[in-house]
Amino acid sequence: MAGWRGALIVLEGVDRAGKSTQCRRLVQSLRAAGLRADLLRFPERSTEIGQLISSYLVKDKNLEDHTIHLLFSANRWEHVPLMKEKLHKGITLVVDRYAFSGVAFTSAKENFCLEWCKQPDIGLPKPDLILFLQLSPEEAAKRGNFGSERYENSSFQEKVLQSFYHLMTDKTLNWKLMDASKSIEDLHREIKSIAEETIQEVQNKPLEELWK
Ligand SMILES: Nc1ncnc2c1ncn2[C@@H]1O[C@H](COP(=O)(O)OP(=O)(O)OP(=O)(O)O)[C@@H](O)[C@H]1O
Ligand SMILES: [Mg+2]
Repeated sequence: MAGWRGALIVLEGVDRAGKSTQCRRLVQSLRAAGLRADLLRFPERSTEIGQLISSYLVKDKNLEDHTIHLLFSANRWEHVPLMKEKLHKGITLVVDRYAFSGVAFTSAKENFCLEWCKQPDIGLPKPDLILFLQLSPEEAAKRGNFGSERYENSSFQEKVLQSFYHLMTDKTLNWKLMDASKSIEDLHREIKSIAEETIQEVQNKPLEELWK
């Protein structure tokens, strides 16, 4: 209905938890139910900043740790005008990783504190719902080996997970922990139901700012 906004729904989780699979399924099923929904992912590798990030991730390029952190954040900020436009048109955005991944990954490195890592993302559109797909390293391993991109190794991923748990203690955010060991369809049904509730709940509420 006119004037009603879409919801900002973020999926986070460890590598191979099924974020991309569930984001795609959610957008499909929301659309099938007659709701307007678009998929976004971060990093969004198609922009100039995104291409720099991509060449870092595939190890074609080395970038200093603070620099790459700020580029990941810049990649989110460059999409904010489009995100706001869509949300205010009533389009729900389903986002595959967001600032929480950015913070969790950098703060897992030596000599980075969580507070520093959060600063550049303060003020981004605040998600109405953050679904954290939980999966044990053993279950994740059954879904295939780590790829060859940067960060794809188990000791680093364990530190990333600890950073995520710190971020989840923030009660100003609507985190929901999901058991990602379920089948794709079972998990999808749960996610769809929570997403639909959220879309209803926030349609008349103003969009807020993250960590402000
Ligand atoms: N619930 C599930 N049960 C079993 N296999 C799954 C499930 N969800 C996804 N998979 C499979 O696990 C693999 C990883 O899924 P997907 O790419 O969606 O994860 P991701 O969280 O986006 O991973 P990444 O962090 O690497 O982007 C794929 O091969 C996918 O088909
Ligand atoms: Mg993915």
